[in-house]
Amino acid sequence: MEINQNVSLKDLNTFGVEAKAKYLCHIRNLQDIESLFEWKNNNDIPNLLLGGGSNLLFKNDYDGLVAKVSLMGKDIAEEDDEAVFVSAAAGENWHDFVLWTIEQGFAGLENLSLIPGCVGAAPIQNIGAYGVELSNTFHSLQTVNLDNGDIQEFSKEHCQFGYRESYFKSQTLDKLLITSVTFRLPKKPEWHVNYAGLREALAGEILSADVISKAVIAERQSKLPDPRVIGNAGSFFKNPVMKVSDFEALKDTHENLPGFPQVGNDDVKTSAGWLIDQAGWKGYRKGDAGVSDNHALVLVNHGNATGSELWQIAEDIMASVEDKFGIRLEPEPRVIA
Ligand code: FAD
Ligand code: EPU
Repeated sequence: MEINQNVSLKDLNTFGVEAKAKYLCHIRNLQDIESLFEWKNNNDIPNLLLGGGSNLLFKNDYDGLVAKVSLMGKDIAEEDDEAVFVSAAAGENWHDFVLWTIEQGFAGLENLSLIPGCVGAAPIQNIGAYGVELSNTFHSLQTVNLDNGDIQEFSKEHCQFGYRESYFKSQTLDKLLITSVTFRLPKKPEWHVNYAGLREALAGEILSADVISKAVIAERQSKLPDPRVIGNAGSFFKNPVMKVSDFEALKDTHENLPGFPQVGNDDVKTSAGWLIDQAGWKGYRKGDAGVSDNHALVLVNHGNATGSELWQIAEDIMASVEDKFGIRLEPEPRVIA
């Protein structure tokens, strides 16, 4: 395994911010994982596992080893009467994997089309879009423990999936390297097309995974800036979830506050994009750091913004929304200090 020193991460994060890694390596096979394990145990230095860099903000240079996970491969692992089980290695591009499952005639991942990043990072925050989360079709994943070399398989019940949450995000970051993920795709598909925007786009259509995927792609392209054109990491904040009583109280003073009742409890999710928009931040720009003029939840890099400039705007937004609505927003991407 080759380890390079003092490497720019600008092309390895979708914000496109400049940050240097003290060391960088690529993990392409099992041998590389073994070398990483040995290196880590012989060097007292932090490590960061990197996929597509689409849910990260580097505030500074990284004074450690960045390990870019580039394990490749995908296959149909098995099938039974009700479902097929498909597996992909962690370095596979998520969207390409989704399209591949659709080409094979399988359904279940279509609503998650066009989410950037790699398969191995998808369970970290239980990616979700258009009424579907990864956990809906997740079956299991495999990890290597970089502290002791143990190989482990996690079934769904052990992953503690929640809204943009998992066991791996809250407990094991940079320690458990996810090597592959397996999905259980039902042979009798269940379509999820009630999300606003998607419902209208698909009215009168004969539904299939391919048709839904194309509608999701069109909807996303109309709303979210393309990181290849303007640096961003998607939604910068999670949508706040609150007790219905708190939501009703806030609605007394802000009658247009959007609310989405959560299934299985008394909570209501409101829209961080709406809160930020109402606080006047949409289209804000200071230097090259700013807020998308198309979507208030997306921070953007117009060119040469630094991570700390973007983070400053995030902090200012959090303070302003808290001041106006009494809600403390929580960043969604991982912020690397
Ligand atoms: P990275 O940003 O590289 O890493 C994210 C985290 O995963 C880090 O903590 C990293 O250490 C860890 N990690 C990465 N690989 C591994 C591994 N193999 N083993 C262990 N840990 C690992 N997210 C959504 O949920 N829904 C959306 O609709 C959505 N839309 C987006 C739109 C845009 C335009 C952008 C830029 C981002 C969007 N995101 C969305 C966020 C992002 O795409 C997802 O979170 C994605 O899963 C991140 O994948 P990545 O490979 O880029 O991860
Ligand atoms: N809104 C505004 N102003 C804006 C943007 C949004 O008022 O500038 C309000 C509108 O009321 C709109 C509502 O916010 O109806 C919701 O907006 P949208 O449908 O775009 O969804 P979102 O809540 O902003 C979430 C996810 C996205 C995911 C979409 C589609 C989070 C934090 N974000 O966005 O995920 O793609 O729904 O399901 O849950 C990501 O995580 O990075 C991401 C992009």
